[in-house]
Amino acid sequence: MKTIKELTLRERMQLLIGKDFKHTDDLSGKLPSLKMVDGAHGVRKKDYATGEIAPSVAFPSLSMVASTWSPELARLQGETVADECIDEGVDILLAPGVNIKRSPLCGRNFEYFSEDPYLSGEMAKAYIEGVQSHGVGTSLKHFCLNNSEYDRNYQSSEADKRTLYEIYLPAFRRALEAEPYTVMASYNPVGGIHAAENRRLLADILRGELGFRGVVISDWFAVHCGWRSLRATLDLRMPPLQYAREELEYGLRAGYITEAEIDEAAERMLALIERVKGAKKVRKTEKGERHAIAAEIAREGIVLLKNEGGALPLAGGDIVVAGPFEMKPPYLGSGSAYIPTDYSIKSLASELKAALPDSRITEFGWAFPRSSKRVGAGYIYKAAYTADKVVLCVGTGEGVEGEDKDRTDIRLSFEQEELILKTAKQNPHVIVVLYAGSAVDMSAWIDRVEAVLLVGFGGEGIHEAARDILVGRVAPSGKLAESFPLSLADIPQAANAPNGFVDRYEEGLLVGYRYYDTKEKEVLFPFGHGLSYVDFSYEDLKIEKKSETDYIVSFDIVNTGERDAKEVAQLYVRDVFSYVTRPRRELRAFAKVLVRAGERRRVSLTLDASAFAFYSDMLDEWHIEDGMFEIEVGASSRDIRLVGRVEITMPEGEQYTTVYHYQHPTEFF
Ligand code: GLC
Repeated sequence: MKTIKELTLRERMQLLIGKDFKHTDDLSGKLPSLKMVDGAHGVRKKDYATGEIAPSVAFPSLSMVASTWSPELARLQGETVADECIDEGVDILLAPGVNIKRSPLCGRNFEYFSEDPYLSGEMAKAYIEGVQSHGVGTSLKHFCLNNSEYDRNYQSSEADKRTLYEIYLPAFRRALEAEPYTVMASYNPVGGIHAAENRRLLADILRGELGFRGVVISDWFAVHCGWRSLRATLDLRMPPLQYAREELEYGLRAGYITEAEIDEAAERMLALIERVKGAKKVRKTEKGERHAIAAEIAREGIVLLKNEGGALPLAGGDIVVAGPFEMKPPYLGSGSAYIPTDYSIKSLASELKAALPDSRITEFGWAFPRSSKRVGAGYIYKAAYTADKVVLCVGTGEGVEGEDKDRTDIRLSFEQEELILKTAKQNPHVIVVLYAGSAVDMSAWIDRVEAVLLVGFGGEGIHEAARDILVGRVAPSGKLAESFPLSLADIPQAANAPNGFVDRYEEGLLVGYRYYDTKEKEVLFPFGHGLSYVDFSYEDLKIEKKSETDYIVSFDIVNTGERDAKEVAQLYVRDVFSYVTRPRRELRAFAKVLVRAGERRRVSLTLDASAFAFYSDMLDEWHIEDGMFEIEVGASSRDIRLVGRVEITMPEGEQYTTVYHYQHPTEFF
């Protein structure tokens, strides 16, 4: 392995610029070249010369992985995608994306975990650990405040410091504990300075405060000026542009950058190459085993949003299966995170036919040519009239949700809403299977259907997973990792649509359920919501105080049903009285547990100081105010089953808003 001293200045500069769209420069064979490929949902084998993308295993979207609320499954997806990387000679997987789902409109929400920083961080850390435990590197992205696709190269994200530290940095902070090989700087400016050229972000915060010691790579074409990026401590510009090295030479001649800064970045690149080449490749699965894993993760990420009249699980009979996605489901959104699969996904009807051999399943895919849409739909309505139940496969799809564009609405298409409403007129037992990577406004039809099953963008195993839930082989155990608002008018950003120059995060901390719960606004389905085929009761809450800021919270979950099922118990904390704005509740711990039919299971969760602290921009540090905190345990953010309280009294010298606490020494009076 070469050292910096063996490289000429020109070579050291060349090392900071990619060789092509997916390789680092090998300096004419002096160094190994690293291969970097997307993405979180599988290996995207794109031939940049032809634009062709060879198929590979398509795993569930990260939004679906988050809906499993299982870090173990996030780790498993990381491990299995890493196996794909090893097969394809990929050194660094350009994933995971941990940007917060600030608005349901963001086109890339399917690629991100959650609206909540704690859930995002737990899942991202596990995913990175999974990938890197197999000797493959990762790229934690997109750093930072990359929460919309609208004019993403130029619209500047502007957030106050508390919001940055409490909402948009924590997932990165937590994920960095897994020591990702690289961090990817995002396209957007932050506070008017492009993230890839933003020294405050990359040097002061990412490296200085969050302690990242690896290589910062740019998002593709996110560098606008090479020497400015270097000065901000970005190391690797991707992909190369023909004048990239000349830009560095100009910056050096002009005194904007120094040779020492070039060497620092080159040292980090050499260390990265050493780490990659030194990593022991561990492959645990053969290609043929990976589809089943993708299906398993999808199964646990499917969320049963509504289930009335015993609609689900299906018990057989005369069932109509129809809708635009019944035959060809959208299993991922579009863009760099899309993985073409060569797995032939069966239609949902054929999966159900196989699972319910005694049933009469009538299939109507959305195969009508547009001109005959009405004729086609007419057949559906006619068949629906005499059927026992109707399953409609509707949703957004990769044409609607994807990179480089935001949605302008969160309703389904007119045709799909019409299909649901007219079918429901013919038959009261309609079950909607919903394919979407982010929230959908269902207000036009939710009251006309008996059940809604969110199958997300579930990867290539989406229809097997949906089948197993629909026929009751497995009880649904997914829960929403983002709020579903009643309508777009209700989202906190409704007031300030971006203007192409600045996207002001005026809602501050109040993102997602933090907004809806603090403002006591009704939502369609709350953060953390998901039904099962059994009921769970929560009992016997105990809170054990280990120190002023460390607690063990335990409780029983009882499965009162007749079948085994998994439950996701969530723990939220509320600062009952505070001298600063604080959200009504914040997720601080969770656990997904299997509880056998009729049994009870004791769950124990731990809280430390981070569960109670807020970022004080007056003190420029994390701070805990004395006082009472409520500990809420529930099945969702709006289904709180147990409440406890703790009184925290921090050392006197650390308290500042002490008007009602401080006992003035009597000698003053
Ligand atoms: C894309 C994406 C990024 C991806 C990169 C390489 O534009 O923003 O997530 O990893 O370019 O394809």
